[in-house]
Amino acid sequence: MSTFHEKVVYQIYPKSFKDSNGDGIGDLKGIIEKIPYLASLGVDMLWINPFFSSPQKDNGYDISNYTEIDPLFGTMEDFEVLVKEAKTNQMEIMLDMVLNHTSIDHEWFQKALTGDKKFQDYYILREPKSDGSHPTNWASKFGGPAWEPFGDTAKEYLHLYDVSQADLNWRNPEVRKEAYKVVNYWLNKGVTGFRFDVINVIGKDAVLSDAIDGVGKSLYTDRPIAHEYIHELNKETFGRKEAIMTVGEMSSTTIENGAAYSNPENEELSMLFSFHHLKVDYLDSEKWSLMPFDFMELKQLLNDWQTGMTEKNGWNALFWNNHDQPRAISRFGDPEHHFYASATLQAQTIHLLRGTPYIYQGEEIGMTNPGFSELADYVDIETHNAYTELIEKGLSSNEAMAIIKEKSRDNSRTPMQWSNELNAGFTTGQPWLKVAENYPQINVEEEQATGKILSYYKKLIQLRKEMKVISEGNYRGILLEHPSVYAYVREFDGTQLLVLNHFYGESVSLEIPEEFSNQQSRYLIGNGEKRELTPTFVLEPYETVAFYFNAENNG
Ligand code: GLC
Ligand code: CA
Repeated sequence: MSTFHEKVVYQIYPKSFKDSNGDGIGDLKGIIEKIPYLASLGVDMLWINPFFSSPQKDNGYDISNYTEIDPLFGTMEDFEVLVKEAKTNQMEIMLDMVLNHTSIDHEWFQKALTGDKKFQDYYILREPKSDGSHPTNWASKFGGPAWEPFGDTAKEYLHLYDVSQADLNWRNPEVRKEAYKVVNYWLNKGVTGFRFDVINVIGKDAVLSDAIDGVGKSLYTDRPIAHEYIHELNKETFGRKEAIMTVGEMSSTTIENGAAYSNPENEELSMLFSFHHLKVDYLDSEKWSLMPFDFMELKQLLNDWQTGMTEKNGWNALFWNNHDQPRAISRFGDPEHHFYASATLQAQTIHLLRGTPYIYQGEEIGMTNPGFSELADYVDIETHNAYTELIEKGLSSNEAMAIIKEKSRDNSRTPMQWSNELNAGFTTGQPWLKVAENYPQINVEEEQATGKILSYYKKLIQLRKEMKVISEGNYRGILLEHPSVYAYVREFDGTQLLVLNHFYGESVSLEIPEEFSNQQSRYLIGNGEKRELTPTFVLEPYETVAFYFNAENNG
């Protein structure tokens, strides 16, 4: 059995993957239909975003029942078939556990509202300050204050996300027990992977205080107690079984903490998602702004995390895309002029790094941002809140829309483009979110018939399984000062891999360090012309290439 170092995960956003019954919403049966496609990619695990009962205020991240399937997506029987069919095709299932908060429609919250003390202690309730202001000055990550009046009591409840998502009180052992029950329930259904939503913010202090910055992130992120809770979660649930793969979504974390969460000695999680490398196009750290990405910062962040996690024996989840991010090809690539090259450059850059790669649906065929220009075309709650705030700040509606168009989470949530048929073959009905207009050109059928991106992904997935230098090798960054190339070396047991990734649209000439240009090497994989490594090496626009060195072949 392979370890998670050799695995590749494919992320499915169920709402937008495949609709089986024409209601315009993707569902579990739709995923089952596409299992042969997924198996043909060679991926090992399918991470499926939440499909549990939910009022869908935040597309399923507002859960009202953790062990029920929302009828929108199908039935428990469908889920069981999915697990079985995936297994028959050598794929495992990873579920999304949203244990930091529940929907306010959850029975616990509702009981708390009616005055039930036991359930009131499931949430984080505080009295307003004596001047009537909120218990703390923290901001919600989705805009506005992080506190909301709790029914007609004099208290307020904490919501780090939307008002409909109330933070759970992890200090209460009953709450932790409930959380472990949920995880064990799904383990018993044959689930072998878990993605833990915003898990590094579960540990709040007993006494909450005002933040100097008026936002509060540092007061609830990566608290030492979060490590304790995650360790306990491990011991009480997935840690009791063999070979369960876990990944924590770690908002605003540090390398220190990231390594601690994922160092096997600590018995917390297998790996983590960190997000610093996806903020390199934020002007002054502000997401809702426009700025060309800062390549040097991107490279430095990737390099620092790779180096730090290698040294501290942590493990990264490697990714460019997910359901919360605009499409990387539109952000850091050039789909218009260098479609194939920029898509494969991005793929190779992370697939050959140290960590476990994640592919987000559609990435493997080069899906782009849809470029919707009407606010009404967007569904996401965060997007609508941001629009209101931008207008309040004084931006014109055109200015606000220009930002939304680049930054909205709906950029990645548009329906999967399967074919050039109606609605890209996603649904026969009215899709819940518009399909991107480029689907007649960019779709799975077209890609399978004439494209080269999909087959490139398959090769990368295969290589990770075949070559220890990819799955187990150490990492070392080189040519760190180069303004347009991210170059690194992987090393394992006398073998080396040199990976050169060029992030811009002109050709560039590189001086290859002697330690490599002196040795014999083999062209392993690249998106350009196959050729030998020369002391001066020219990379074409968005070219990526990897050379393999085996000390035994070098006298
Ligand atoms: C995570 C999810 C995101 C969700 C948020 C609140 O960041 O990925 O989609 O809105 O948590 O649950
Ligand atoms: Ca459906």
